[in-house]
Amino acid sequence: MSELILGLETSCDETAAALITADGAVLSNVISSQADLHARFGGVVPEVASRRHLELVEPVVSEALVEAEATLSDVAKIGVTQGPGLVGALLVGLSYAKGLSWAAQIPLAPVDHLHGHVASLFLGDDALEPPFLCLLASGGHTLVLVVNDHAGFEVVGGTRDDAAGEAFDKGARLLGLGYPGGPALDRLARTGDPSTHTFPIARVDGLDFSFSGVKTALLYAVRELDETALAERRADLAASYELAIVDALLQRIEQAAEHTHMDTIAVVGGVAANSAFRARLATLGARVAPLPLCTDNGAMIASAARYAPNVSKAGYLAVDAYSSR
Ligand SMILES: Nc1ncnc2c1ncn2[C@@H]1O[C@H](COP(=O)(O)OP(=O)(O)OP(=O)(O)O)[C@@H](O)[C@H]1O
Ligand SMILES: [Mg+2]
Repeated sequence: MSELILGLETSCDETAAALITADGAVLSNVISSQADLHARFGGVVPEVASRRHLELVEPVVSEALVEAEATLSDVAKIGVTQGPGLVGALLVGLSYAKGLSWAAQIPLAPVDHLHGHVASLFLGDDALEPPFLCLLASGGHTLVLVVNDHAGFEVVGGTRDDAAGEAFDKGARLLGLGYPGGPALDRLARTGDPSTHTFPIARVDGLDFSFSGVKTALLYAVRELDETALAERRADLAASYELAIVDALLQRIEQAAEHTHMDTIAVVGGVAANSAFRARLATLGARVAPLPLCTDNGAMIASAARYAPNVSKAGYLAVDAYSSR
């Protein structure tokens, strides 16, 4: 009975594999994060990431199969991230998937990573049906998308500079919170008062974002403080900075809903894991990706693969990774 979909993700610093059923039930979702490996460098080192993916890809896929109580003979399709991401890292997953596909005679579907983030909403009992308006806020992207069908999306807004996740990471670094910054800033902000500092929300034309100003404002605020004062105010600064980013995202998504006349709002990507953001989105009645599916994972890639065409057998050997869209 070969009807499962294997999803493989290696675009950045997570080696991830998952098995889902044809109707979107997640049977396993194994994620091996390299965060600890990159922490001492303060960010992802591409060559280090590629080498680690090479070590982890086989055990992670094996574990996903074991957890799903499946073997390769149960797999009807392999979905693999083709891009955007770090090309060296992507090539490890892509080459592995091609080899597996060739050896086990399983059709291969290259998947766009951003389509994967959107497809995190198409899993489980409570899957969201298009059309909807989607904010994708991650480490590398902040996009407003109109999703009219399962197979793709139209981009109606984006960031002029930093991505929202990048703004969280850079803010965390300025506050001395280390790497990965977003989750650490989230935790600290819960203990702070968001009304103590006012950080700016950029006014940008159309449905676009800009996060460079808020980051610079935090830099100036931190520079004015000596170490003792920074220690006292760190949590308040984190909470105020977080509020500015969350407000910017919410303002835009509400404007986008008005502009596009779309009733259903959904949010995906790593920043959708932020607790303050999730709480505000809940009061807005927005759909948010399930917590384990916000940051990179294989289940979202398997989900997107359901709607991505297979590449013919000889043809897929020529499929190449891409770093940006
Ligand atoms: N709780 C949180 N609060 C704020 N930001 C968070 C939280 N959890 C994760 N993030 C941020 O989400 C980002 C990671 O998300 P994701 O894995 O979707 O991004 P990516 O894959 O690196 O980028 P892209 O998907 O654009 O290629 C990081 O910038 C991280 O700081
Ligand atoms: Mg991602």
